[in-house]
Amino acid sequence: MEKWSPKLAIGQAHSKLILIGEHAVVYGAPAIALPFQAASVRVEITPLVGEVLFDSIFFQGILEDMPTKMKGLVHCIKAACQQLNQPVRHFKIKLISTIPIGRGLGSSAAIAVALVRGLFRFFNQPLSREMLIPLVDLAEQYAHGSPSGIDREATTSDHPIWFAKDEPTELVDVARPFYLIVGDTGRIGDTRAAVGHVRQLYQQYPNQTKVKIDQLTRLTVEARQHMMSGKLTKLGITLNLAQHELEALGVSDASLDHYITAAREAGALGAKLTGGGRGGCMIALADTLELARTIQQTLDDAGAAQTWQCAIKDGVCNYESQSSSAY
Ligand code: MEV
Repeated sequence: MEKWSPKLAIGQAHSKLILIGEHAVVYGAPAIALPFQAASVRVEITPLVGEVLFDSIFFQGILEDMPTKMKGLVHCIKAACQQLNQPVRHFKIKLISTIPIGRGLGSSAAIAVALVRGLFRFFNQPLSREMLIPLVDLAEQYAHGSPSGIDREATTSDHPIWFAKDEPTELVDVARPFYLIVGDTGRIGDTRAAVGHVRQLYQQYPNQTKVKIDQLTRLTVEARQHMMSGKLTKLGITLNLAQHELEALGVSDASLDHYITAAREAGALGAKLTGGGRGGCMIALADTLELARTIQQTLDDAGAAQTWQCAIKDGVCNYESQSSSAY
């Protein structure tokens, strides 16, 4: 039976930062990710007689005309309506996002999460995690090929998480507050291509690639220990070592290296790329607000398209400030 909702329904989700373990996580290794509320997605669903209309800065029109790159969202919307026992008709979807796309911040997962949340609210039905996950994965598989699932987990968590494929996600304790400064290179990275590159390396050079994945696994275990014991200098060194492995896997690039070097020279305890790499964003670690501000200013001066700063305190990430050069 059709359940008509006369009201505006809203679905929201925030972006995410991978602290350490990206790429290795695709092969079953653990990774640590943080919710990143500084950038988020809001989906507004309203009644509209006729075909479903989609309204966003990327695309405006009916679902069937959605560009190929966004087709995963069409699959997700159709599957959600099927689950809800509702026809794919008579509503409009407006998408407003402050998450820059292709920057390793989990934009595609956050959009899918917000969309599913909005649709379930629109049709007045409760949404369990068990229902949400396969619907988001549908969109993610289309966008990324074979995602590990970390983006979906981190965009739906309000706390730092420890994630490994097919294992229950755990929360990570943070003994001592720390600051992360995020720098956007302004270059769109292609996660699917970067993941494909590492897979090809694995096929071509299985032993050497396994050594690097194993090293990233060890570093991720160490990072969690340093977070739990508040050893921030050691955490910074661990992040630098992870960046070294990611460079060796060929997923960093000149733009990321430029901002990572600038952050280290400004006194960052550690700095590395975050997410798929080959463009996108980098992160830097600081133990004081003063140092965080200096690093953010340095990244702005070095030409970063956008920078953010957040504090990780009491297991929660508090967004502190965003650069004026933000678009
Ligand atoms: C993407 O945010 C992180 C990667 O490890 C891919 C994945 O886990 O699906 C590069």
